[in-house]
Amino acid sequence: MRILAIETSCDETAVAVVEAAGDTFRVLSHLVASQVALHRPFGGVVPEIASRKHLEVIYPLTRRVLEEAGFSLAELDLVAVTSGPGLVGALVVGVSMAKALAFARRVPLVPVDHVKAHSLAVLAEESPRFPWVSLVVSGGHTALFVVRSPVEHYLLGHTRDDAAGEAFDKVAKLLGLGYPGGPVISRLAETGDPSRIPLPRPMLDHPGYDFSFSGLKTAVLHLVRSGRAFAVQDLCAAFEAAVAEVLVEKTLRALSDLGLSRVVVSGGVAANRRLRTLFQEEARRRGFEVYFPSPSYCTDNAVMVAISGYFEFKAGNQASLELDVYARSQFPRYPL
Ligand code: KG4
Ligand code: ZN
Repeated sequence: MRILAIETSCDETAVAVVEAAGDTFRVLSHLVASQVALHRPFGGVVPEIASRKHLEVIYPLTRRVLEEAGFSLAELDLVAVTSGPGLVGALVVGVSMAKALAFARRVPLVPVDHVKAHSLAVLAEESPRFPWVSLVVSGGHTALFVVRSPVEHYLLGHTRDDAAGEAFDKVAKLLGLGYPGGPVISRLAETGDPSRIPLPRPMLDHPGYDFSFSGLKTAVLHLVRSGRAFAVQDLCAAFEAAVAEVLVEKTLRALSDLGLSRVVVSGGVAANRRLRTLFQEEARRRGFEVYFPSPSYCTDNAVMVAISGYFEFKAGNQASLELDVYARSQFPRYPL
């Protein structure tokens, strides 16, 4: 089955052509046009600018992906598209393109949830056996799921305020380090000492699986405002360590409470080296398996949309041309 997938939920326009056979995937071509440079002067994503840029880029990008894949639309079996959660104006661009293609080629149109797609990105390269615990950590989302199958995600907990990536971005902004914050903070953290600056571990003592990162950002703000001398590398290392520890601890708690032995970590923040190392160390120590997509499949891409779309289609989920977009996901809670 040949799938054309489109992703425009935030500030990356992404298109992919993926061939699915059984439950394995071959990426024929995938491209991501990042708008990061466009939003950088504002220190975050400006929704109106994002949708305008998607509109400009979506058509030529799709053409290039088709050319690189050596793929003609006549061979198309399915169109998958992110219909939420995300910026509504941005989502509408991808969904309109997907509708046009599905209508023109008379092929099914399959809506995909962006968070679910992140969680399934790992299947582009590996096949962890279900069920797993899935930690999705990105700029817009921080959530922990039990994944029983590619189409069954049950929510264990999520952030009550900022997403982990958003916290990286906000801390970088208040330290004047630019946007996006994750890569620059983790680069500086490499030469810093995480133990020199004590930072809180929010929600760690709180039962359950919810997260909170806004207090951590405020702690950094207080330190900056206090006028106390510190090395920015140490602060980056301390901040990164605090985020990573909370994410790992909560995930370990879920694995142990539910008696599961596989965890998949995905989303932009899953590219973070300290987080990966910490998970790998704990996996070795406690004997569970941990999986991460390659960094290019951690951040927003359309390959993950193709994968999720494929499984949704197999489960009988497809949309009409009335398909609408949504800003927030609604996942069923895991029955504890
Ligand atoms: O998944 P993604 O591309 O977009 C969303 O769906 O949000 O994630 C982007 C987020 C940004 O907040 C960025 O700062 C963060 O992922 N990020 C990182 C790293 N690389 C990207 N955070 C920590 N460490 C990194 N190496
Ligand atoms: Zn994302």
